[in-house]
Amino acid sequence: MTDCRICAGPLTEFLDLGAQPNSDAFPRPGETDGEFFYRLAVGRCGSCTMVQLMEEVPRERMFHRDYPYVSSGSSVMREHFESTARQLLATETKGPDPFVVEIGCNDGVMLATVSDAGARHLGVDPSEGVADRARARGVRVRTAFFEEATALDIAATEGRADVVYAANTLCHIPYLDSIFRGLDALLKPDGVFVFEDPYLSEIIERTSFDQIYDEHFYFFTARSVRNMVRRYGFELVDTVRLPVHGGEVRYTIARQGARVPTAAVAELLADEDHKALAEPATLERFAAEVRRIRHNLTALLTRLRAEGNRVVGYGATAKSATVANYCGIGPELVSCVYDTTPAKQDRLTPGSHIPVRPSGAFSDHYPDYALLFAWNHAQEIMSKEEGFRAVGGKWIVYTPEVRVL
Ligand code: SAH
Ligand code: TYD
Ligand code: ZN
Repeated sequence: MTDCRICAGPLTEFLDLGAQPNSDAFPRPGETDGEFFYRLAVGRCGSCTMVQLMEEVPRERMFHRDYPYVSSGSSVMREHFESTARQLLATETKGPDPFVVEIGCNDGVMLATVSDAGARHLGVDPSEGVADRARARGVRVRTAFFEEATALDIAATEGRADVVYAANTLCHIPYLDSIFRGLDALLKPDGVFVFEDPYLSEIIERTSFDQIYDEHFYFFTARSVRNMVRRYGFELVDTVRLPVHGGEVRYTIARQGARVPTAAVAELLADEDHKALAEPATLERFAAEVRRIRHNLTALLTRLRAEGNRVVGYGATAKSATVANYCGIGPELVSCVYDTTPAKQDRLTPGSHIPVRPSGAFSDHYPDYALLFAWNHAQEIMSKEEGFRAVGGKWIVYTPEVRVL
């Protein structure tokens, strides 16, 4: 039996998504032997309510020199992080010579704005390839996993931080005890830790089970975050709901007693109680919905193939690894996937081995149907690919339910 990574309480599994590969490991054609698989299943802690993976994939298997995900691939996300940077600079960096640290800075999509403003900053990211992209745009980066030792070293060599920020990264880190001990050493007495990640409430409401994959170890709620940070002498002092990536929450964490929690925190906690979010019955219902979507999606794709349609995928997302491998979708149902990321192109999707093609080629030969794996970027992609609909092409989505648009 597995114990909770936060409090060692008992975990109860509620969803098994089967054998899955690394969601961001795209093999070359002919090099699929020896692909790594693990069991993707999710459970809930009976003591602290934290929802988490039952099995942990070693971090070096996921985050390394060739990690292919680049944050700047979406214009909506570029704008989101630019305004985030401006907001952090305006509200959290008041003294002389402020210092901003980001955990998981990737290609510098957020810190580039901080750097351009002339503020002292440091990104920490273990994935050398994306870190080099950040450096190329004037962002200072340490190629390392952020953990207690890294934080102690940064504090000793560069001083303490006014704000530490992490987007779509804290939920990737099983070893949060080390992270929070590190934050305790790195933050100034009145410094804050601000992080944003997919919100369990949205995942349940949209049945977006594809948010569950190797890199997403935790699925936070205001309740589970509040319980967790208290263990390390911190307090949840603000929450903001964000529309990006299918619905996230930005949490602000301060030292206990340093700030008065905003009304938003109490409101979100009350809303979670009202929805019985993270209650066993709610999670069991979610799991049943996931199985229903698998049935409906494979039935639709099988019928479309039988009718002679050409169906492709759009967006070789990490999320799509869960969908393809859980539903048994391979090249016979979805002939290729279009994606803008050079490091994914001319490779195969993890586990399901669907060829990835440059998205520029989508319009060369429109398919009959396109399965929108990057549904979180639906508006951006559908407006960019208006020509597809114009020739009678149809989008397929599978969240919140399987639909042809
Ligand atoms: N913040 C960006 C990137 C998210 S992808 C965005 O929101 O788009 C997650 C990033 O976290 C990857 O670049 C990965 O290399 C990095 N990462 C994973 N574990 C980390 C750790 N322990 N410390 C710092 N970065 C980490
Ligand atoms: P994203 O949904 O951001 O994350 P994850 O991989 O964590 O699930 O990934 C978006 C993917 O879709 C990425 O590989 C780039 C691709 N993409 C396009 O091909 N075209 C686009 O217009 C956009 C916005 C993304
Ligand atoms: Zn727990």
